Amino acid sequence: MNGASRTSVGRVPLKNPLIAGSAEHLIEADGVRRALRAGVGAVVVKSTNESQAARHQLQCAEYMVLDDHWRPIPWDKEAPAHAFVACRSGLTPQSFEVWLEQTAMLDREARSYDSYAVASLILAELETAVAMARQVEQAGVRVLELNIGTPYASQAAKGAVSTELDPARITTIVSAVRAAVTIPLWIKITGQSERVPELAAAAFAAGGEAVVMAGRSLGLIPDVETFEPMLGTTLGVGGHWNMPLTCQWLALSRGKLGADKPLIGTNGAQSGLDVARMMLAGACAVEMSSAVMLRGFEVLSDSLAELDAYLARKDVTARDLIGRAADRRKTFAEMPLRQDNWRRHIPA
Ligand SMILES: Cc1cc2nc3c(=O)[nH]c(=O)nc-3n(C[C@H](O)[C@H](O)[C@H](O)COP(=O)(O)O)c2cc1C
Repeated sequence: MNGASRTSVGRVPLKNPLIAGSAEHLIEADGVRRALRAGVGAVVVKSTNESQAARHQLQCAEYMVLDDHWRPIPWDKEAPAHAFVACRSGLTPQSFEVWLEQTAMLDREARSYDSYAVASLILAELETAVAMARQVEQAGVRVLELNIGTPYASQAAKGAVSTELDPARITTIVSAVRAAVTIPLWIKITGQSERVPELAAAAFAAGGEAVVMAGRSLGLIPDVETFEPMLGTTLGVGGHWNMPLTCQWLALSRGKLGADKPLIGTNGAQSGLDVARMMLAGACAVEMSSAVMLRGFEVLSDSLAELDAYLARKDVTARDLIGRAADRRKTFAEMPLRQDNWRRHIPA
């Protein structure tokens, strides 16, 4: 690791752009420590809120890996690169007090790795989220991520989690939390909207300092053998195949908001080159979650090694990557004529 991989998310300097994103492997302190030891720029711990239903949902959670034929395959680190995780998840089983104490302790430990343990709240009731945000700051945690875009709001118990789709609601939520804390505030938004750049704009205008885009989607995977939906219900889906969609949201948001608004990519990164891809699309940092849950913490160190090798090979710094491909996007109207090119792309 050298200075070439340094980046920053607004006023938060990061030793590199890879962030271990929130999921079950970051519930226990040991998981967060393993991510820190892998060398990441930051770790976002497993989220919490006040909802007992959201905690209960974790105890009802189910997870599966599917291959490129939509067939379930073993949960195993040798799963092929195209495999993706489908699941119903919930929030940390710990009480808020235990979670807070652990997160503050881990963020103190993270300093010696030149890294961070970022607190993560998922919105349920706004007043409580504001009070929890205040306690996060008082506990000395240096960065707060607020997730207002989980995939599950329509499926979970009422009020357990949020999928905010309205910029006006985002203004209300982010303003309230912003008014309560002075620490850097990152807002994680949904990708289940045709208005992701507008949602991001609202988050920034209300005082969010970075926007994490974009959360996983809801999907239904019918099982052709049993005629049932896989795992019995609608699932959170995302991963490998979602990478181009994440990059599109990043590029569109950069185009709308300008290059100075810090964007963090999430959904579909599973290698160092994927981190580079999301940065080229406009991200200043990238969260990686399900690939690590499935394949282990080595995915983080392997990705960092791959990113370093890529930066050296291209003789660029991580910062040089940010938005380069996004800014080179042309409109269809600017593309050169390719007379009858379509004929080479139909069956012989
Ligand atoms: C099993 C599972 C649990 C998750 N739990 C959380 C969570 O508690 N808080 C949160 O903000 N995101 C959570 N996420 C979303 C991830 O942080 C991430 O945004 C998403 O999985 C897309 O990124 P990926 O392709 O790297 O997995 C979870 C994802 C999965 C698969």
